[in-house]
Amino acid sequence: MKIALFAGDGIGPEIMAEARRVLDGLDLPGLVIFEGDVGGAAYRRHGHPLPEETLEMARAAEAVLFGAVGDPSCDGLERHLRPEQAILGLRSELGLFANLRPAKTFAGLENMSALRPEIASEIDLLIVRELNGDVYFGDKGMRETVDGRREGWDAMSYAEDEVRRIAHIAFRAAQRRGHRLTSVDKANVLETSQLWRDVVTEVASEYPDVALDHIYVDNAAMQLVRDPGQFDVMVTGNLFGDILSDQASMCVGSIGLLASAALGERRTDFGTFGMYEPIHGSAPDIAGQGKANPMAMILSLAMLLRHSLGRENDALRVEQAVSAALSDGIRGADLGGTASTREIGGAVVERL
Ligand code: NAI
Ligand code: MG
Repeated sequence: MKIALFAGDGIGPEIMAEARRVLDGLDLPGLVIFEGDVGGAAYRRHGHPLPEETLEMARAAEAVLFGAVGDPSCDGLERHLRPEQAILGLRSELGLFANLRPAKTFAGLENMSALRPEIASEIDLLIVRELNGDVYFGDKGMRETVDGRREGWDAMSYAEDEVRRIAHIAFRAAQRRGHRLTSVDKANVLETSQLWRDVVTEVASEYPDVALDHIYVDNAAMQLVRDPGQFDVMVTGNLFGDILSDQASMCVGSIGLLASAALGERRTDFGTFGMYEPIHGSAPDIAGQGKANPMAMILSLAMLLRHSLGRENDALRVEQAVSAALSDGIRGADLGGTASTREIGGAVVERL
């Protein structure tokens, strides 16, 4: 089993070090670990945020564990040299089109949610976000009209096979969970969404054990804060999924707790090839101070063990160790506590 660790910049190296301790604590037989440079760190050493050797390392592995990138000292660079290009480049080069973002309120953390505790305690959902299409990858540009006004545009489009493959992922996830799937779109206004709705409905006939409903994205945003307990699996396009999943993360208390998996079609000997990362960024405001919560990073490792290495028991051990640390009151500053990054990592390792 080969995995690649890309720590990145900002808090990336600090939280990756704690995930590494957890990984070492599991003592997996036959595990080979590669470490590669991405983001600002890679730019400084190789002149590019995603060097070819990093990409090769990812291709040779069963999975990638990714920290965070977003070094503000690179802000003045041209777009293709900015640290964030490392994530976009890895997602597209590796064909990672399905982003799984679970959000669940940990026992004892109901009071940390932006919502009332009795509403927060009901949250246990999975957002399945399409990652390779939509307005992020469509034709875009900036022009000046004949009367001298500037005009920017970004084309939104989806092809039916792109919708179909993400729909299958979402239905299968719903089969493993509560057998309910909510598809989020804006079919009352957008043609892309009408196609989305039609294709998801077609795919539903192959999953008679899953109850499908459709909701407009504006209503979905409202329902996520009004009554998030109604949702089990939600499937949506790249743009809506980006926004709704950040919103869902705040409903459970801290962005420092939310993990994600980006999966494609490539199979490995042990599962599906994927890239796993916390949903947060490189948090330059707290980098280097030992204040970052490494739990999202550690929970991303749990997802890697589950989906790419086929080690469900180890994934559960890691998740239960994080839960146990939280219920024993181990909290970082993001959750109103005083534990440092290293102390939180140590507390999780102790409880494995
Ligand atoms: P951010 O997620 O880095 O930080 C937002 C806020 O949450 C900050 O106040 C930060 O201190 C806090 N925070 C984030 N992670 C935390 C953790 N583990 N523990 C405690 N507090 C935490 O988002 P922001 O500030 O908008 O972006 C910073 C940089 O990260 C930008 O350059 C952005 O482009 C990049 N970024 C990278 C992502 C990635 O690597 N996947 C995703 C999102 C943003
Ligand atoms: Mg986002």
